[in-house]
Order: sequence, then C-alpha cells, then structure tokens
Amino acid sequence: MTTTQHGGEHARPASASQGPAASTPATRPPAAQGCPADIVRLYEPTPPEGRTGLWKRLRERHGPIAPVELETGVRAWLLLDYQETLALLQQPQLFSRDTRNWREAIEGRVDLDRTVPMMTWLPNALYADGAEHARLRSPVMDGLNRIDMTAMARTVRRIADELVDSFVVQGSADLIGDYAGQLPALVVNRLFGLPDSYGHMLNGLTALIFSEDSQRTEESINGMQQYFAGLVARKAESPGHDLVSWMLGHPSRLTHREVAYAAALVVSASHMMTAHLIGNTMRTLLTDDHIRSAHTDARLSTHDLLDHVMWNDSPLQLLAGRIALQDVRIGNARVRKGDAIYLSVDGAHRDPAVRIGRSDPDTGLASGSRAHLTFGAGPHSCPARALGRLVASTGVSVLQERLGGLRLSVDPQELRLLSSPFLHGVRELPVAFRPGRPCEPPAVRTQQMEQVPPVAEEEQPPEDLLGRLLSWWRGLGR
Ligand code: HEM
Repeated sequence: MTTTQHGGEHARPASASQGPAASTPATRPPAAQGCPADIVRLYEPTPPEGRTGLWKRLRERHGPIAPVELETGVRAWLLLDYQETLALLQQPQLFSRDTRNWREAIEGRVDLDRTVPMMTWLPNALYADGAEHARLRSPVMDGLNRIDMTAMARTVRRIADELVDSFVVQGSADLIGDYAGQLPALVVNRLFGLPDSYGHMLNGLTALIFSEDSQRTEESINGMQQYFAGLVARKAESPGHDLVSWMLGHPSRLTHREVAYAAALVVSASHMMTAHLIGNTMRTLLTDDHIRSAHTDARLSTHDLLDHVMWNDSPLQLLAGRIALQDVRIGNARVRKGDAIYLSVDGAHRDPAVRIGRSDPDTGLASGSRAHLTFGAGPHSCPARALGRLVASTGVSVLQERLGGLRLSVDPQELRLLSSPFLHGVRELPVAFRPGRPCEPPAVRTQQMEQVPPVAEEEQPPEDLLGRLLSWWRGLGR
C-alpha cells in the first residue's frame, strides 16, 4: 500500500444532515474505476454455491483490490488481500470508519440516512475515529469487562439447555430458527439484566431486520429504536447491576441517546455473527467427515474447531466500508481520497499467501491460528471475542451432548445460503436425532446454576409481553 498525497490532510466529517438529500447523480466522477461491464454488483443475491469463487475470480482479474458496486451506480472498492486488509484496519489515520467522509455523501450523490449497506452513519463506536471512537467504545469495553464470565458460562449453558428442551422430544429441529438464532439474543438480553421473555422479543425484532420483506424490516427498526430508548430511560431511572446501567454511569458521560445506540450496537454486532458461527460450525460437523472425526477423536478442540470455521466458513463475509483519507495506491489501483473500501474477509482468508502457512502438519486442518479476521483487527476489533467464543463453543457443545445420532435431514445441496453479502450462513439447518428428554424443571436448575447471575435480573415480565413492555416504558412517567 503506497500513499500518494494530499499532504496528510484529513477530511473533516460533514454532518450527515449537511449533505443534500439523495439527488439524481448528474455528473458522477469515477469513485472506483473499472469498466462498468466488469464491475461486480455486491447487492445481487448470493449464488447457490456461495461467493468464494467470485472472490477468486476477482483476485485473478484485478489483483488485491477490485471495483464493485454497492447499489446501482454507487461504486466502491473491495479489498481481497490479507496483509493489505490487516494494514488497512490498523491504520485508522489513513482509513476512516466515519462514513461522513465518503465523497459520495459529501457531494450529495448518496444520502447517509438511506440504507446503502453498512454505510449509514450512526452515533456509535463503529462509525467513529480517534478520540471520539475511544469515548464511545470505552463504556462498552469497560462494561463487558465487568461481566463475571464464570457466572456467564452457567447462564449460557442454562439458556442453551432450555432451548434444546423445547425441541428435544420431537427428534427433529431447525438448528438456526430453533436454536442458534435465539441463543445469542437471549444471552445479550441477560447482559441488559432482563428476563428471557424480553430476549425472545429482541430475537424476533433482530430477525425481522434481516428479513427480505422491506416493510417488516422498517417496522422492526422502529421497534428496535423504541426498545433501546425505553430500556435506557428505564435503567436511568432505576439503575441496576447490568451493562446498560454501567454504560450510563461510565466516566465517558455518554448521553442517553448514545447509550441507546451503544446497546443497539451490542445487539447488532453480536446476534447474527454468533448465530451463524454456531450454524456454520454445526453444518461443518454434519457435512465434513474429516473435521467431525478430528473433533470426536479429540484432535481438534472445540475452540480450534471454531477457528477452523472462522478461517474457512466465516460468518463474516465482508467488513463494512472504510473511507480513504488520502490518495493511496493498492496493487494497480489508485484509490482516491474519499473512496469507500469494503473488506472481503472471506477473500482475505483465501489469499494464497496466507493459506500456505496455516495448515496443521499433523491434521492437515487449518486450525491453531487465531490470526483470522472474523473478529476484525485494529482499534475497532471486536471487544467481546471471549464472550462470542463462549456462546458459540457452549452452543455447539450442548447440541453435541444432548442430541444423539444427530444428522442433517436434507441433502447438503438443498441448504439455502443467506442472501446478504455481509453474512455467510444458511437460512435453515434441518436436523434429525434420537428423541430425548428435557432436563429437570428449569426453575430448579436455574436456581442451582445461577445462584450468582452474571448481571442482576429484573422481576419477571407479565404474560402480555408487548403490551406490558409498553406499559413498562410508559411507567417511567408515573
Ligand atoms: C462470534 C461472535 C462475534 C463476531 C464474529 C464478532 C465480530 C466483530 C467484528 C468483525 C467487529 C469489527 C467490525 C469492524 O471493524 O467494522 C466487531 C465489533 C464489535 N463487536 Fe463483535 N463479534 C462477535 C460477538 C460480539 C458480542 C457477543 C458482542 C457484545 C456482547 C460484540 C460487540 C461488538 C462491538 C460493540 C463492536 C464495535 C467495536 C468498535 O467499533 O470499536 N461482538 N465484532
């Protein structure tokens, strides 16, 4: 990567509201050059065989960085090289996460309030640089560091067991919808100190955000905003021993709105990633005999198995755009100040230069190295990788322990991939197993296992969840 120059000058973030609303592009300068016929449209649905072949073709055609389209007429770059990706993530002074620096937005061709995937600006840590990033990240980081991980391990186990209890007698389940999709939402909900019933609602709202029905997506985004604003207002009124209360009391003195955005970021950054890490790991175990026997023979620990999946079948396909703060040459491409660069995690993991060094000579498996990019790198790297690993490893282990004779109930070719270019996973993972028995009554087990909860829990909510949730919020005004 060679910087060409703008004298180290940094673009100042233009406020999202300063730019004119989405306008008709009259004269569009080439944001990321390349013949239009040759440009890959990232917004097109994932082909049934996935996108791995696409990254390979792009690398062969363009080298380490390729021009792509984010939506019709909106260009960006896609970086495919492992070392360049690492270097970029570690140089926030050259590559900003603040999408208000994006030339397309500054010059009014794109409205940041509109959803160009992962480019909408939000007032949270993920979209901030430098001192502002530290101010927004430290309450999340310090709050996560206060969690009692031993107690959390018991809580995750308890939640995973209860989810398995709900289908174990049937002898069949969809491991995404019935399990992997729910577990992370229920865990995060416990970080907020709320009873599980709120976690089920959070799960429903998050799942809708990823639904392909845009009207329902819109509804769930509104629902989410309400949820977090209500949560923060409630915790501000009666603080507890939980992540939101800790963020509110943090010396960074975030506003209530910023805490609501931070809580929403915790949910959005963790839910689908963890769900599809569990899903992709289970799919690997169910379809790859070599990996399954290495794991069952104890040659491959659960954490090494997760790393294998995070290298080869990462739930994270693309990392959202960084904005070049000065002109820079990458490979043969001249990236201009203000250009957006997306990072192909899967492409970087398949960089031939990286794959050579990381196969285990004994097992031939790509394990034992945690240098994959699934948790990111640099100042924005995931502050909760230990928690993410805990949830994923417990989630996988509980399924293996509890579901005897576990097998896929469809042909692997029939599994449908998610259409998102950012996430990699299957929509459903239908399995069959020997019907089993639920654990002992949850109340007894919960008491035994969670004598010391990782965060304190509020009183149980009443039956009519949504109605009561509203009254819970309205109760603030009492
Ligand atoms: C397997 C599970 C997880 C994966 C693969 C994952 C991955 C990532 C990645 C790649 C980033 C960096 C994004 C970027 O640089 O643009 C990130 C950031 C973040 N993650 Fe995770 N994550 C996981 C679980 C979690 C959990 C459980 C939490 C919280 C409870 C969490 C909270 C966050 C937050 C707050 C950020 C933003 C950090 C910042 O911008 O400074 N993640 N995560």
